[in-house]
Amino acid sequence: MLVDQLTRAFPDLARIREERVRKAVFDQWRYVGECNPEHDDIERIPVHPTLPIEKYGNLASHIRGQTAISQVLVPTYKKEWDVDLDLDHFLACAVVHDSAKVIEFTYQDGALVATPGFDHAYEAARIALSVGFPREVAHMIAVHTYLGPKRIPRTAAAQIFQFLDPICVPVFPEQGKSAVERHLEANRWTVGPAPDGLP
Ligand SMILES: [Fe+2]
Ligand SMILES: [Fe+2]
Repeated sequence: MLVDQLTRAFPDLARIREERVRKAVFDQWRYVGECNPEHDDIERIPVHPTLPIEKYGNLASHIRGQTAISQVLVPTYKKEWDVDLDLDHFLACAVVHDSAKVIEFTYQDGALVATPGFDHAYEAARIALSVGFPREVAHMIAVHTYLGPKRIPRTAAAQIFQFLDPICVPVFPEQGKSAVERHLEANRWTVGPAPDGLP
């Protein structure tokens, strides 16, 4: 079961100090794993079925990148701007924010596909509330994916996590559509040509 692989996949979970928050991480992954038992190896889940693991890494590396950066980011905000962020919330949000992709991604004729119209951020936030996450964490999860004016962060932590999310996947313009372009297209915005003379 996926939940039994969490401790090994995400050693930084041990740094979550609040027992209630750490327990909720496991309860959330248990829930999504039971919803869709097709996934049995946490290291074989992609960030998206259109992003091959061999080239873009997997969902687990996306999460590990976020837990690693969070441990630098949280003390940096305190040191430089005296902004208090909760490292427990960042670590927990990183590990569960995309957990509903376990439900969203299903196998059809042997190929992994995303369920059209499935809002994995909304679903993960809904599950987060049901397993006992603080509302602040559920909000971070709900707005983690950039949807422009459709979903606006209301806290410093949610705003910062929304920017952290696309940092932790190597989708760059040198290889095709960039993370920025993919987000724009997902919001049905078209990308025009750059102004003349701009590098
Ligand atoms: Fe996401
Ligand atoms: Fe993500």
